[in-house]
Order: sequence, then C-alpha cells, then structure tokens
Amino acid sequence: MSAPDRTPDAVAFAPASLSNLGPGFDALGLAVQGIGDRVEAWRTNRSGVTVEMVGGNASIPTAPGKNTAGRAAEVVLEQASADFGVHLLIHKGIPLGSGIGGSAASAVAGAWATNALLDAPFDKEALIPAVLEGESVAAGAKHGDNVLPSLLGGLVLVSPSDPTDYRRLDLPTLPPIPLVLPHVTVLTREARAILPETVPLRDASAQAANLAFLLHALGAGDWKTVGRYLMRDRLAEPFRARLVPPYEAIRTAALDAGAVGCALTGSGPAMFAFLSDTGDAQPVLDAMQTACLASGIEADDWLLDLDLEGVCLLDSA
Ligand code: HSE
Repeated sequence: MSAPDRTPDAVAFAPASLSNLGPGFDALGLAVQGIGDRVEAWRTNRSGVTVEMVGGNASIPTAPGKNTAGRAAEVVLEQASADFGVHLLIHKGIPLGSGIGGSAASAVAGAWATNALLDAPFDKEALIPAVLEGESVAAGAKHGDNVLPSLLGGLVLVSPSDPTDYRRLDLPTLPPIPLVLPHVTVLTREARAILPETVPLRDASAQAANLAFLLHALGAGDWKTVGRYLMRDRLAEPFRARLVPPYEAIRTAALDAGAVGCALTGSGPAMFAFLSDTGDAQPVLDAMQTACLASGIEADDWLLDLDLEGVCLLDSA
C-alpha cells in the first residue's frame, strides 16, 4: 500500500544514539542531535499497520511484524485498543547497519507518530514496551540502550535484564563527538551472535568496575577518565573489532590527533572519539576519516552533540 494522497496526520523524528559507550554493553546509550529517522503516519480505515520506505532500503522488510517501526506501531495500537489502522512512511536518515541506532530510531518514531494519531494517550515512559518490541524484530533482542535514549533524549542507563528499568543521567556539557561511519555493513543480529555466552569471572568483575568508573567520570565531567574507560570493554568490542577492518587505524588516528578515547558505537561499524575539552574537534574527525580512507574504505563523518529531547513531533503541514 502507498501513502494516502493527503498531508500526514502526524510526523515524528527520533534521533540516532550511541550505545554501549565501551563497557556499558546493552546498558548505556546517548542520544545525539542532527541524525535520525522521520516517520510520517496516516490513520487508515483498515485495521492494522502498513509500512512503506522512502528511497528503497530494499533490505529493510516492510511487513509490519518484521519492521521495527511497524511492530512498534502495532503494539501501540493494541495497547490503545484502537479501532483504526495506520500507514507509516519511513524516511531513513540513519544508514542501515551503522551502529548508531537506526532500527531503534525507526521504532521510536513509529511509536510516537502512532501515539499522536490516537491523540496521545501515552507518555514516553508508557511506550517503552512498544519500542523495545520494535527493536527486537531487527536485533533479535530487546536491548534498550538505543531505543531509550532515542525516546527520552540524553544519557540513559538501562538494565539489560529488565529494560523497562532505566535512569536518565545528568551530564555536564559534553565536548563535541567526532564519529566516522566506515562503509562496511555490520548487522546487529550477527554481531550479537559472535559474542561468547559466558565470560571469565575476572572479565565480569573488571567490566563492572569499568562501567562504574565510566559513569562516575561522565557525571563529574572528567573527560580524560571517560576516554580511558571507554576503551575498556571486555564483553563485546574485543570480539567485534575484526568486523571493522579499519578499526585499529581509526582508533590510533583519533588518539594521535588528541582524542582521549575512541570506541565502536553499538555493534559498529561506526566509531566515535571522545575529547577532553569543548575545543575544535574537527582535526580529530579529519584524522579518523583520513585513516579510514587510507585503509581503502570510504566513510561518512559527523561532529555530534548530545540530544536532550529525544523523539519529537514535527509540523506535518
Ligand atoms: N547494545 C547493542 C549491541 C547495541 O551492542 O549489540 C546495538 O547497536
């Protein structure tokens, strides 16, 4: 089905997010400004959800139960016992398989736009089960470290075992975050499948301490310590680095150019650097981009700021 020939009834935009942030596997994520997915929504007389993608994205399924926005919208309609359906038109601003929360942003924007069609019976917190359900159709797991920041904005700590349990953490003003996205596709589902089921006790205890140090440093604005602990993941990044051929080159270039840390975001391949002050981040970004190109792989790049708002409605006129 294609979009009705009239102005959408609601339009939502959900921001991209950096997740894991080193040792916060499935537990920590940060919403960022400037990149995100936009979803237009129309009420339809036929019950259920239909989904359409702008500009192809042929590998993203449009069957509503297999599409993150479609599934999230289905759950919102069920939750409200709605007596109408919804058509969603998804504008992907976040490249597929990038590690910056593309599947999550679509789920969040789909849920928020559908909520608006219902005259907004739910607040953001009440939509957490819907967006987790949406995320799970792409990732194969209800990890909350992308959907919650995209929904709520800011830095969010979320329990991997119960992702409805979360805390939004206050932060001092963050330095701008350089991010490169090498043109390599890493699918979250596959990047999760390669992780070991069990880890030695020494790694588990180190991980717990590393995350605690990271959170303390983030709250204190101690950016040098943040940088150090961003690079101390023991559970995921050591196994995933090989999925990103220019990983070492980008990391070395970022640190040589003055960054205090550099890591994968989510399952990659995007990598972000962390700076120790709010000065000029462009040289670090340029160094990361140049290193990626020198490895024979092109990359997109961005300088990102924290997003504090999360998903929002846009003027649909
Ligand atoms: N925490 C998730 C993972 C994020 O690392 O698999 C996926 O982008």
